[in-house]
Amino acid sequence: MTPPKPPSRPDRVALWRYAKLFRADLLSAQPARLYRAWMAEFRTPFFRSFLVNQPDLVAEVLKARPEDFPKSDRVAEGLRPILGNSVFLTNGATWERQRRIIDPAFEGGRLRDTFPAMQAAARACADRLGPGEVEFEAEASHAAADVIFRTLFSIPIEHEMAAQVFAEFRAYQQAQPIVNLAALIPLPRWMPRFLPRRARRAGRRIRALITALTEARMAEIRAGTAPDDLATKIMTTRDPETGETFSAAEMVDQVAIFFLAGHETSASALGWTLYLLATHPDWQEALAEEIAGAGALDFAAMSKLRLTRDVFREALRLYPPVPMMVRQAACPEHFRDREVPRGSQIVLSPWHLHRHERLWEAPDAFDPARWQSENGRKCQREAFIPFSAGARVCTGAGFAMLEGPLLLAEILRRFRVFPVEGRVPEPVAHLTVRSRTGIWLRLERR
Ligand code: HEM
Repeated sequence: MTPPKPPSRPDRVALWRYAKLFRADLLSAQPARLYRAWMAEFRTPFFRSFLVNQPDLVAEVLKARPEDFPKSDRVAEGLRPILGNSVFLTNGATWERQRRIIDPAFEGGRLRDTFPAMQAAARACADRLGPGEVEFEAEASHAAADVIFRTLFSIPIEHEMAAQVFAEFRAYQQAQPIVNLAALIPLPRWMPRFLPRRARRAGRRIRALITALTEARMAEIRAGTAPDDLATKIMTTRDPETGETFSAAEMVDQVAIFFLAGHETSASALGWTLYLLATHPDWQEALAEEIAGAGALDFAAMSKLRLTRDVFREALRLYPPVPMMVRQAACPEHFRDREVPRGSQIVLSPWHLHRHERLWEAPDAFDPARWQSENGRKCQREAFIPFSAGARVCTGAGFAMLEGPLLLAEILRRFRVFPVEGRVPEPVAHLTVRSRTGIWLRLERR
């Protein structure tokens, strides 16, 4: 069975219609030719944007010269109220300093320290599940938020403040579903993008809650009573160049992005992976066998889950949680045979790159075995960017590649998953790639 893919729009549509389609859904607003094109230009009356699919151009933007393609300020606009000056939005020297302080907390060795908290969340997720039909996206969000709270602040999602932050994030997103895609919407820069009042209010409440958590932690660090979790690691790491640590205010911005970037994305990936396994029972059984053979699922055992990782990777390919990213050309460029004026928006689309018909064999098929094939290995290097690439690669990539297989393993160890008849999920891009009507699964105990 070919995994669900959104319908493409006809090649040519009027701008107003494009804007309307876009508001409905980013993915089906795009023409089918983007799955074959190396590059496409969108001319609007207000600015130009270039979607880049050619592997060497993608590498040029993300890896070779990231400083010439900073994050687009159009994207930042919509997210700033909640993320402030977080590492996700900054550029230049501020961004470099933030990464110097944050990156060490996510390094391989440190992940080993984080693992027990992640595992406790994964087991709690499997405990919450039971036999019968379930809308799994909600469960996945719950589980991924739990992972973040436990690893960052050593508190489970049931903690009153954690539960409140989680609920407010939901309200924020419901009020503001396409905020980070504002960069692609062909509106002139002078036109105000209203943040709905509900989103503004939820944003303020989220920041207040995170501030309280961060200030309490600062006090514990000073008193020498802080647990050794990610928050403590980050708040006590000194910038090797200046010797300074983050102030509490700076840390609030970073915590906000860890919540947002770290739970929505992992939740999206987990939901799609389980759906793909529900519809490919042979792969599901192969994974169950691998997981049973891995023993106690401690940190060392995770490296044995090779098939599980290949399946998770295949889900990240077919349903990249972050479907598109936007950069801005800081200087005039020449891409292929085209002039790219300064200030143009450069769109990198994991969604299209991962299903590119001239790069991947059977691009729309679910085939985790591809990762061991020559084509799969080549594409993994050149055309697979679920975590972006280069200097601005996702800080949490290693974390997420541990968390995803672990959650899968804890769930599949206890349950068999089946699709629910008549409930085929339809991918749509909101903050992340989700299903329009949720991901429905039927669970049976093993
Ligand atoms: C499957 C899970 C995840 C996926 C697919 C994912 C994907 C991405 C992508 C594509 C970007 C680059 C966005 C852009 O350039 O516009 C990014 C950035 C980022 N992600 Fe993740 N992410 C995941 C999980 C996480 C987790 C678990 C954390 C933290 C705990 C995290 C923290 C961040 C941060 C801080 C950035 C900003 C990095 C920078 O701009 O320098 N992500 N992520």
